[in-house]
Amino acid sequence: MKSLKSLLFQVPLILDVAFASDVITDPENATTFALTYGFPLLGFAQVSLSAFKNGGVNQLQRSPGLANASSTSVVTPNVDTLYGIGIFDLAVDDIVVTIPSIPENERYYSYAFFDPFGSNFFNLESEPVSIPPGKYLLRRGSKTWGFEKSNNKEYQGYIDSPTGNGVFLTRIEVKNNNTDVMVVEGYLNGTNMSPIPRESGDPIPESPPLTPATFAALEGLSTQQQTLELTARLQAANPPFNVTDVAFIDATLFAAGIHNGTYHQPAGVDLEKANSLADAEIGVYTQTGRQLLGNQWARYNLQGLYGNNFAARSLLAQIGYLNLQESQAIYPFSLTEEGGTTSIAHNEALLYTFVGGKPPTLSPEGFWSVTMYDAEHFLIANSLNVYALGDRSNLTYPDGTPVYGPTSGPENDARAFQILIQAADIAPPINWTNNWLPAPSNGNFSTVLRLYGPTSALTDGSWTYPTVSKIPAITM
Ligand SMILES: *[C@@H]1O[C@H](CO)[C@@H](O)[C@H](O)[C@H]1NC(C)=O
Ligand SMILES: *[C@@H]1O[C@H](CO)[C@@H](O)[C@H](O)[C@H]1NC(C)=O
Ligand SMILES: *[C@@H]1O[C@H](CO)[C@@H](O)[C@H](O)[C@H]1NC(C)=O
Ligand SMILES: *[C@@H]1O[C@H](CO)[C@@H](O)[C@H](O)[C@H]1NC(C)=O
Ligand SMILES: *[C@@H]1O[C@H](CO)[C@@H](O)[C@H](O)[C@H]1NC(C)=O
Ligand SMILES: *[C@@H]1O[C@H](CO)[C@@H](O)[C@H](O)[C@H]1NC(C)=O
Ligand SMILES: *[C@@H]1O[C@H](CO)[C@@H](O)[C@H](O)[C@H]1NC(C)=O
Ligand SMILES: *[C@@H]1O[C@H](CO)[C@@H](O)[C@H](O)[C@H]1NC(C)=O
Ligand SMILES: *[C@@H]1O[C@H](CO)[C@@H](O)[C@H](O)[C@H]1NC(C)=O
Repeated sequence: MKSLKSLLFQVPLILDVAFASDVITDPENATTFALTYGFPLLGFAQVSLSAFKNGGVNQLQRSPGLANASSTSVVTPNVDTLYGIGIFDLAVDDIVVTIPSIPENERYYSYAFFDPFGSNFFNLESEPVSIPPGKYLLRRGSKTWGFEKSNNKEYQGYIDSPTGNGVFLTRIEVKNNNTDVMVVEGYLNGTNMSPIPRESGDPIPESPPLTPATFAALEGLSTQQQTLELTARLQAANPPFNVTDVAFIDATLFAAGIHNGTYHQPAGVDLEKANSLADAEIGVYTQTGRQLLGNQWARYNLQGLYGNNFAARSLLAQIGYLNLQESQAIYPFSLTEEGGTTSIAHNEALLYTFVGGKPPTLSPEGFWSVTMYDAEHFLIANSLNVYALGDRSNLTYPDGTPVYGPTSGPENDARAFQILIQAADIAPPINWTNNWLPAPSNGNFSTVLRLYGPTSALTDGSWTYPTVSKIPAITM
């Protein structure tokens, strides 16, 4: 697979392979399908390898603190939440997931469950109702998947996974001060996953256990070979969760050379060609899958759950593996950053004018932020240690009064405020300090707008997105 950047600039070809529900028998076309289908497994491999390095599957790894400019283990780290992540393998065990007690209306948190392809099949969410703290049993669904309430005292409920493997990801909002980081660390310490032997007698589909061998000997292979190997090795444990799709997908993967856990490249197949067709297919979705939000902002229509739109699933995995369902969060992007990054000259700045007022996220269990990254998508060191601005920052209106905090106006205050993106080494006048998001001095950067606990006003056109304008750097 190419990088997202090259994808976005590709001339879209109109192909419909990814939507087909008929078996593809031509090996070349079947390989294109297999690549589109399996691409997100590269993300799963990355997260799994990190889990094996840090102690193994079926246990939660907790982030050591909020990210800063020296955090380089993941791209586009957020500075809004602490997170815990665990790979699950339900081949022989069930997993007891423990959720701590977090006071109602205190903050955003989510407990999200994904299949290895990045589909967010279930969330225990703080919205619309707080979930009861306690123990939940994560198990391989034998027929259905999703949530089942429990009548027994031991568990609050059962989470039935459509797949034998997947990812459990928890995020808990941090309210920007040192004391609060400790509070959230406490909640994270109270979150846990621990395997217990599966109750016998359940008619659970057989699947091979996930081990380091699942990911062995991939180094040195091309990304398309890696994708096809992973698709083969993970196939038995992770069928498509729409049963209607199983027959055509298995038969098409078979035509692509994927069978019984292994991949053998069929004679005459040109992997490079299949790969560029898969890229093109995914590239089509960058155009067709877009919802325009006004003022040159857009988002993707499918997020978290993709049905049988495997091109959308792959695209979203490339932008950020493990996207939550849109009820949890949306990530609109400015079309001025099309292609992944943007740039300003050293004596220039970008001004985001929130003409629609405060972004209407749920209150208090929602939040928003704009985070600044360098061209490699890492945070940028600066003397203020400001990596993001949003609802927990001391933003001010042009008259100097606070946008947020106890003395600010109501949530639906429609007055405009501004965020100034300007080089870290060109300080703006003092009244701008709180609204200044320092940019790299070489001028190449990217930003991410995160809207957690989004209200419908953010997607139905009733809230006006910020205007983005390039101006001379503000120095006096
Ligand atoms: C492969 O797919 C392309 C595009 O859908 C189609 O035009 C072509 O006929 C297919 N080739 C075979 C051998 O089925
Ligand atoms: C960045 O985070 C790491 C890990 O949490 C920490 O050890 C380090 O002191 C932090 N650096 C700064 C500049 O805050
Ligand atoms: C910092 O966090 C603590 C614990 O959540 C909270 O009680 C306190 O009000 C916060 N302080 C500020 C200045 O936000
Ligand atoms: C969370 O657990 C870690 C590791 O055991 C410990 O170092 C830390 O102090 C704990 N934090 C809180 C707030 O309980
Ligand atoms: C399952 O897939 C079929 C065919 O692709 C589709 O018609 C159906 O709507 C899907 N069902 C669900 C629940 O997504
Ligand atoms: C499938 O692979 C296993 C080893 O991985 C082998 O023992 C078995 O014979 C294979 N079955 C078929 C039908 O090829
Ligand atoms: C906001 O201002 C208050 C009061 O000056 C200060 O205590 C706090 O640290 C500031 N918060 C941020 C995120 O800068
Ligand atoms: C700072 O002051 C200037 C001049 O009065 C004003 O135009 C600008 O909006 C102010 N900026 C902020 C963020 O308050
Ligand atoms: C900014 O990015 C562009 C495109 O990636 C690159 O050509 C240019 O050299 C970069 N500029 C600096 C100053 O790093």
